[in-house]
Amino acid sequence: MSYERPNIQAMRGYSSGEQPDQSDVVKLNTNENPYPPGPAVARALAGLQVESLRRYPPPTAMVLRQALASLHAIDADNIIITNGGDELLRLLLATFVAPEDCIATASPSYSLYEVLAAAHGCSMKHYPLNADWSLPPKLAAQLNADKVKLCFIVNPHAPSGILSSALQLAELAREFKGVLVIDEAYVNFVDPELDYNAIPLIREFDNVLILRSFSKGYSLAGLRMAYGIGPKSLIDPMQYKTKDSYNTDFIAQALALAAVGDIDYAASTWLKVREQRATLRTALAALHLNAPASQSNFLLVTVPAPHLAEQLYQGLKSAGILVRYFKLPGLDDKLRITIGTPEENQRLLRELQHLLQN
Ligand SMILES: Cc1ncc(COP(=O)(O)O)c(C=O)c1O
Repeated sequence: MSYERPNIQAMRGYSSGEQPDQSDVVKLNTNENPYPPGPAVARALAGLQVESLRRYPPPTAMVLRQALASLHAIDADNIIITNGGDELLRLLLATFVAPEDCIATASPSYSLYEVLAAAHGCSMKHYPLNADWSLPPKLAAQLNADKVKLCFIVNPHAPSGILSSALQLAELAREFKGVLVIDEAYVNFVDPELDYNAIPLIREFDNVLILRSFSKGYSLAGLRMAYGIGPKSLIDPMQYKTKDSYNTDFIAQALALAAVGDIDYAASTWLKVREQRATLRTALAALHLNAPASQSNFLLVTVPAPHLAEQLYQGLKSAGILVRYFKLPGLDDKLRITIGTPEENQRLLRELQHLLQN
């Protein structure tokens, strides 16, 4: 006999990208930053006193919230710190979605949304993106017609890397009657010349919540730190009612604070990733592996016939290079490749050339 709730028994768990133990693997499968955390983070880690672990950590990470508030020119009250972006996504469902409600996304996108909906017991709708990965037409009208309570939009989009403008998102927020979550897990890699900034939307609309993560932009995926930015009316119920009292630990708060304090270091990694993104995209196109212009730290390449994306993924894996293959409609002829260091990207290109010749 099973003690699981029926929806838990029926659901499938999230399938993460492989996390190999060997250090010689070229890991281009889970969109980590290829550069290590900066020297300020290393110093903060080395300077931690074990005595500081005796007490509980600050419950809402106020010092870190203040540092982020000044970075984004908003109030600390507009910020909630969470144990990775994934915790924020779960809190959003726990706080704003009843089991009889429906949530939605423009698909394909981050597959965890579906898993969270199944665990929560609510239903989920998928509105297919256009062929060029742009947002579906009349999305707000469709969401309202289907009485959707909360909609996740990843921007820049994963897995394509395509960026919607803040204006498009504002139009969606204005018309949509539910909570619009703009998942900006990859926003640090957007070209600054595009001047993209969705944060002002939290002042204009009471239904916009933005997700930011320390995982990719700050090279801290192992730390599990992220934050939500939104109007107080969306932040407060999560901050004071639904999150665990001490959801982020003392060490994580201290290291995230050090990372924000040395944003120039993080920004230097964003620049290197953007440069490599352009170089790699051109080199892949020369191998007939074309990818849309990504504003993220990955490229989604289409594998042309007669080759098969899954075979190429396996071939790379045998050569010690991990990329991501999704066996899903619309994605099964593609590979998502994280931008690595110049050396890693060169190794990838050499191996791809070899595999495509055979
Ligand atoms: C689109 C998207 N959103 C959110 C996350 C959550 O990131 P984290 O929990 O590492 O902050 C990820 C992680 O891969 C992601 O791809």
